Amino acid sequence: MSLLRAKRSLRATVLAAVLVSGTALAPAASASAAPLYKNPHAPVSARVKDLMSRMTLDDKIGQMTEAERQVATPAQSATARLGSILSGGGSTPTPNTPAGWADMIDAYQQAATSTGLGIPIVYGADTVHGHNNVYGATVFPHNIGLGAANDPRLVEKIGAVTADEAAATGVKWGFAPCLCVARDDRWGRTYESFGEIPRNAVANSVIIEGMQGRSLDDRTSIMATAKHFIGDGGTTGGVDQGNTQISLDELRRIHLPPFRAAVDHGVGSVMISFNSWNGVKDHGNKFLITDLLKGELHFSGYVISDWDGINQIDGQPGFTPAEVSQAVNAGIDMVMVPYDYAKFIDTLRVEVQNGHVPMSRIDDANRRILTKKFELGLFEHPYTDRSLQKDFGSAAHRALARQAVRESQVLLKNDGVLPLAKKNSKIFVAGKNANDMGNQAGGWTLTWQGQSGERVIPGTTILDGIRSGAGKGTEVTYDRAGDGIDHSYQVAVAVVGETPYAEGRGDRPDGLGLDAEDVALIGKLKASGVPLVVVTVSGRPLDLTAQLPSIDGLVAAWLPGSEGAGVADVLYGDYNPTGKLNFTWPRSSSQEPINVGDGQQPLFPYGYGLSYRRH
Ligand code: GLC
Repeated sequence: MSLLRAKRSLRATVLAAVLVSGTALAPAASASAAPLYKNPHAPVSARVKDLMSRMTLDDKIGQMTEAERQVATPAQSATARLGSILSGGGSTPTPNTPAGWADMIDAYQQAATSTGLGIPIVYGADTVHGHNNVYGATVFPHNIGLGAANDPRLVEKIGAVTADEAAATGVKWGFAPCLCVARDDRWGRTYESFGEIPRNAVANSVIIEGMQGRSLDDRTSIMATAKHFIGDGGTTGGVDQGNTQISLDELRRIHLPPFRAAVDHGVGSVMISFNSWNGVKDHGNKFLITDLLKGELHFSGYVISDWDGINQIDGQPGFTPAEVSQAVNAGIDMVMVPYDYAKFIDTLRVEVQNGHVPMSRIDDANRRILTKKFELGLFEHPYTDRSLQKDFGSAAHRALARQAVRESQVLLKNDGVLPLAKKNSKIFVAGKNANDMGNQAGGWTLTWQGQSGERVIPGTTILDGIRSGAGKGTEVTYDRAGDGIDHSYQVAVAVVGETPYAEGRGDRPDGLGLDAEDVALIGKLKASGVPLVVVTVSGRPLDLTAQLPSIDGLVAAWLPGSEGAGVADVLYGDYNPTGKLNFTWPRSSSQEPINVGDGQQPLFPYGYGLSYRRH
């Protein structure tokens, strides 16, 4: 180290020591030293304090502003001093590769760190079942499947791999896990829930430890987000972004425990929920955000709004000065605007200048945000660690995902037809979800809503698994509609269920029955007299009571993601099913909401799941 750098480093260290001790050095002694906040050896609290002492109101308001990448170039982001940029679902660079993402995010960091204070942005994306926006990522089962696996240690590993693949692209903030407790299966986000009772989300909130690692500034760590606070899974009728009409006692009993667990895991951020609680939008509810989350739970990270979330407070389109001040005063620290960020910044500035938002609130928000940025190591390492890209979508990551698929399968009925014989057999495979990567991955895959398609992402379909698992002398035939089935086949496997959706577009107020194609297929295969196995690929339990007598074997596969072969591992008995229902399976859609302990008679109860009897 040069003498000059050594002197600077010593001086900075001395400055840090006296700042921490509270006594000020003579101006001359600190005049030439690097600012304390740039000293990685100084305590984070001292770095935050020093940096904030150098920030203008606009610097501080910028840190509280998150914009979508499509509306802010790196230069615009730096000019506005934005604190964060996000990719909404499907908002991807071209090429949509790890290198493409790293180039995009590093450009934002280059611009941000070139400003006067050089405060890096933190880039956020929905890593809800792997780094699912990026082509080639390992796409894990959605939470509904992970909950059925009952294996938190496995889920923690999934968090670590997800973080590894996100960090490889420059994304250091994942908007996951969703810790919602879905109480009504008609809700379009049921599949983002680990289960219908808080215990499921509490146990699997350990995914936060996997994502955040031993330390947030580890190269493979990213900051997690506990979402959505609070009550999103409890709305009346399962209406997405609807009204959660329950007592405070029920809110505390059912929906709060997963967030308490998340705080115990050290979660860095919490996202506020779109729903209302007894008619008041969460985004404007100071009791929930400040008193309950920050006060009672002692959450010390920062609170992010959801997309456009503050706009909903008054029930009218767009956001007003009143909504901006209500949301920020309620305790929201960063606003996912995400488009009209300049208007948000101007509005909040005026609200501070006219006294509607106290400077103390602005400073508290900045303290929280900057603390996480220092802890993430973004000031020292703002750019992507591209050495991680060698493991992106690796065989080892996919093997973990395949194990998660195996463990998430729930065997609901077996009249001896399962496991399938591997050798000297003839297997007929049918159904729209047997050979469709898009359908088996579900929503939040490459795009916000996901999409059907045999090969939309790399991986293995369920049919691929059946084919590759077949042994000597076995023939596998596939026909989506079941045409060609006859007595020469030993068994038919119909893979049915839902096609991709996300959020409110997945709400099913009119019932959870199989669609006409699936009902017709099951009828056709049943009429052939060939023993029939049905596999449901869906984001929730489905109403198949009418079809059950025609079915000899039934497996709930949920939304397995990119490694569909894991379903075949269970069908062949290479893995003896261990999955248990984390959602009560209704006898009829009219029973919704139906949950364990509510006295109703389901088709299959919470916790149900069969295994193969080993002869
Ligand atoms: C969405 C979702 C939220 C997601 C955010 C950013 O509307 O509610 O879960 O993290 O927007 O994509």
